[in-house]
Amino acid sequence: MKILSKNNDTVKLLASPDEELLERGDYLVIEDNSRKLLIQVIDIEYADLPGMLEDTLRELSVEDAKNFSSIDPYSIGSLIAKLREARLIIGKFRGVLVDGDLRNDILWLPSRFYSRIRKASSSLINELSRSSGRRAILLGECMGDWFTVNAESLDGKLTIITGKKEMGKSHLAKLLVVGLVEYGARILIFDINGEYGGLSKKIDGSDSELSDRLKVIIPGRNFKTTVEDAGLKTMLDILRYVYDTPPASLREFSRIWYITERIYGRVTLKGLIDALTKTQMNESIREALLSRLLSIEDLEFFNDEDPQSLEDLLGELEYGGALIVDLSKSLPHGRRLVVEYVLSKLSTILKNNQYPPLFLLAEEAHLYLRDTYWDDLVTRMRHIGVFPIFVTNQPDMIPDSVYRQADNIFLFNFTNDSDLDYLAKASRVDAETVKRIVKALPPKRCLIVGRIVNDIPVVVKVRELHVKTMGETKLFFTQTK
Ligand SMILES: Nc1ncnc2c1ncn2[C@@H]1O[C@H](COP(=O)(O)OP(=O)(O)O)[C@@H](O)[C@H]1O
Ligand SMILES: [Mg+2]
Repeated sequence: MKILSKNNDTVKLLASPDEELLERGDYLVIEDNSRKLLIQVIDIEYADLPGMLEDTLRELSVEDAKNFSSIDPYSIGSLIAKLREARLIIGKFRGVLVDGDLRNDILWLPSRFYSRIRKASSSLINELSRSSGRRAILLGECMGDWFTVNAESLDGKLTIITGKKEMGKSHLAKLLVVGLVEYGARILIFDINGEYGGLSKKIDGSDSELSDRLKVIIPGRNFKTTVEDAGLKTMLDILRYVYDTPPASLREFSRIWYITERIYGRVTLKGLIDALTKTQMNESIREALLSRLLSIEDLEFFNDEDPQSLEDLLGELEYGGALIVDLSKSLPHGRRLVVEYVLSKLSTILKNNQYPPLFLLAEEAHLYLRDTYWDDLVTRMRHIGVFPIFVTNQPDMIPDSVYRQADNIFLFNFTNDSDLDYLAKASRVDAETVKRIVKALPPKRCLIVGRIVNDIPVVVKVRELHVKTMGETKLFFTQTK
C-alpha cells in the first residue's frame, strides 16, 4: 500500500488487489520513523487511472477478435494488468500516535514513499478506544479479537441505539442490560414488544442468573395504581397530553378534584366521576371530561382496591435489577398514560432523593413519549439521575437536539438515504464515515461512536447471549411445518 493523497481528513491509499483483506471500519497504521498515523478504512474502490476508459474499451474489442495473440517482447503486460487492477482505499484520519497517545492537533504527514502501512493490531484499537472504568462489558468482536466497553461510560450518559429492523438493536440493548445489572445497576425498561422478560430464562428454558433480578409488570394486570398516588398534576398532564383536553376543561377538572377531596375525604376515580356528574358546570365540558374519565377507567390501570406504588416496585431492585414495564399489551392511549404516570412519579422520587440514579431503557419511545419529554429527559431528568438509553428504528423520530446531546451512539445498518442523512448530520462522527460504513453493515454488526469508545469509532460484531432474547418475529409459516 502507498499513500496517494490526503484531503482534509480523507486519506486515500493505493493497494494492489492481492493485499490483505480489509473490512470497513478496520484501522491502518502508517508508520514513518517513530511516528504513526492512524486511519480508519471506510471504503474501497477501483483506482481511476488516467486512460483507464480507453484501455478497457480496447481490451473489450480485442477480446472479441478470435485467435488474437499479443506480442509482448518486454513482458510488461503483467505489470500493466496489475496497474489496472489497483485498488483505492478510502480512509479517515483519526489522529497521530505520539508515545502511545492519539492526538489530532499535531500537524504531521508521513512520507509517501518510505512509510510502512499495515493493519493496526486489535490490542492497539482496544487500548485506544477504552474509556475509563473497570467494569467491563463484553460486547463482541472487533478486528478479530474480543471487544469490551466499560459500564462506567453509560453511567450518567445518554445513549442511542439505532438501525433498521431486525439488525440486532434489541439484542445489543439486552446485552447492555445484562452487563449493567450484573454490576448492580438499576434499570427501568419500557418494553414495547414484551421481549425483555425473556432475559430471566436461558435458551434451554431453565432460570438464568438474572431471573430473580428482573420483574415484569403489565399495566392493568399486575401493575395498578390510584389516581391519588398519581396526584392532580400528573392527572392534568395525562388529560392534557394523552387526551388533548382543552384548558377550560382542565380548570374544571382541578375544581372537581378539590370537590371530590372535600366530599369523600380522598380522591378516587369513581369519586371523580361521581362528583363530575353532580357538580354544576357547562354541559359540553362535563361531557368532554366524563368521556375521558370513562376511557381512563376502561384501561383498568387506576384501581383503588389493590394498588402498587412505583416506590415499592423500585425498592425491590435494591441489589441491581430491571423493572420491565411491558407495554406490548396496552393500547396507544394506555401506553402513553402509563408512561406519563411512571415518568412523573420517577422524577418526584428521584428529586426527593428517595432513590439512587437509574437507567431508563426506552424502545421506540416516540410511540408513547410526548414531545416535551425528550428535552426534559436529556436535561433535567439526567441531572436528577435518570440515564436514558433510546432504541429506535426510526432515527428521525428522535429530535436532533437529543442526538447532539448523545454521549454514545450505536449504529446498525440503514440503507435508506434519508435516514443516513439525518444520522450523518446528528452523530458525533463525520458524515462520510456514517454513510459509507453504516450503509454496508451486515446484521448483528454496529458502528459505535462517542465517549464509550473514547471517540474512536469502531465496528463491532455483537456477540450472542445465552438467555432467551425473544426478539424473533412470530411467523405464520414456520420451517418445521
Ligand atoms: N449478535 C447476535 N447474535 C445472535 N443473534 C442475534 C444477534 N443480534 C440479533 N440477533 C437475533 O436476530 C434477531 C433480530 O434481532 P433484534 O435485536 O430483535 O433486532 P431489532 O431489535 O434490531 O429489530 C433476533 O432473533 C435476535 O435474537
Ligand atoms: Mg427490536
